[in-house]
Amino acid sequence: MAEPGASQIQLPTAFHYLNNDFLCENTPVHLIENELENTTSGEDDCRPATPLYIYSQAQLQRNIQGYKNAIQSAKMLDRIHIFYAVKANANLHLMDLVRKQNCGAVTVSGYELQAALKTGFVPEMILLNGNGKQIWEIRLALKNGCMLNVDSLFDAENIISVARELQKPARVLIRVNPGLEQSSTPVHSYLSTALKNSKFGVPLHQFDQVLELLKAEHLIQLVGLHCHVGSTIRDATVYATVTRTLLDIRQKLITQGCTNLKYLDIGGGLGIDYYHGTNQGQSPLSTTGDLIQAIASLLPPDVEVIIEPGRSIVGNTGILVTKILGIKKSPDGGKQFVVVDAAMNDLIRPSFYQAYHHVLPVRKTDSSEDVYDIVGPVCESGDFLAVDRRLTQQPVKGELLAIMDVGAYGIAMASNYNMRGRAMEVMVDGNKWKIIRRRENFDSLVRTMID
Ligand SMILES: Cc1ncc(COP(=O)(O)O)c(C=O)c1O
Repeated sequence: MAEPGASQIQLPTAFHYLNNDFLCENTPVHLIENELENTTSGEDDCRPATPLYIYSQAQLQRNIQGYKNAIQSAKMLDRIHIFYAVKANANLHLMDLVRKQNCGAVTVSGYELQAALKTGFVPEMILLNGNGKQIWEIRLALKNGCMLNVDSLFDAENIISVARELQKPARVLIRVNPGLEQSSTPVHSYLSTALKNSKFGVPLHQFDQVLELLKAEHLIQLVGLHCHVGSTIRDATVYATVTRTLLDIRQKLITQGCTNLKYLDIGGGLGIDYYHGTNQGQSPLSTTGDLIQAIASLLPPDVEVIIEPGRSIVGNTGILVTKILGIKKSPDGGKQFVVVDAAMNDLIRPSFYQAYHHVLPVRKTDSSEDVYDIVGPVCESGDFLAVDRRLTQQPVKGELLAIMDVGAYGIAMASNYNMRGRAMEVMVDGNKWKIIRRRENFDSLVRTMID
């Protein structure tokens, strides 16, 4: 069945049409593509500028400001801290813009941590998370005075051993796995992180063992508790449930002599409006205000909260611009394929999670609607960006399409599959724009190979 049309959609304010041209802030998207095409076409085997990621600086700042306004309204200015989830998009320029808004960073690998340090995030406001931290990553975190979430018994042992080796104190939080049922976090199973059978967090039956181990080491400072329930959450009441769960555990720990439990790190990423109002069947999407309110209303005065948003900060700031290579039909006419130059290696979310991304023409024309699969050139039948999608106008070879809401987990999950270079990234600020990442070429791909 065809998905809903794109005629009456609600766009994020940074992206809009003016005289049939699609704009990012004040800059027509086709002008960026055109200029890049002219300036870079001599390079890299005359490859075109597309596929091309374009981000809006104003939208990024607006999203962060939304959180800050909600925190201020809840009178929690010094008590709820925004730690940007670097995994969503680790472009250094973009991270720098986030840092300038006084955010911290939550990282899940040594290189993400290094990227946060390089961008100038305050080390005390960087947190290393992850269920499989390696010794070199723990060392990097401790040497720089970053916090860590303890994910398991062996993770606790590793952190203790690195703290002893460096003779450095380690500020840690315990990541709790409350063992939820899938039905209590109605998101894609790949995006659930606190289920009974999840690989993340200390399961409740091992909690005391981990606690005793940490308490026995004087270099360990247990400063809080963490729980992350999943991503693309639509209903903010889950944050209240997590807050209550963590507060209960905290209370028990206090009676056992843990007196420095200053932080609750309440993970769980709020969803964004990928459908732009075109899917009436979806449950209502809570706002950042709902999220903050759900937490703030339960907080005792001596507790501070870290939240870890990624998608809701960068998701709707980015589009993927792709050129139509041609149109073809299946023999029985049951399928019409729009073959574009972006593929699953550039944006894997549709293939990986059957995720929906809205598709819009970069130049509007008057032509008839029809239903298409939008597919890439990668040699996989699962390589698609949209399936059974109603496009509001006839796709034409050489024209551009914008795949919406790809700022989070777009370029961050991109790969070199089929030896395709990762796309270029551009940041728009009003009517100015600049390249913030060059596209990868053949040399970038073979540089690390040994002939
Ligand atoms: C531990 C942790 N923190 C933060 C995030 C960011 O979530 P989101 O991008 O949905 O806001 C994730 C994503 O899954 C995560 O696993």
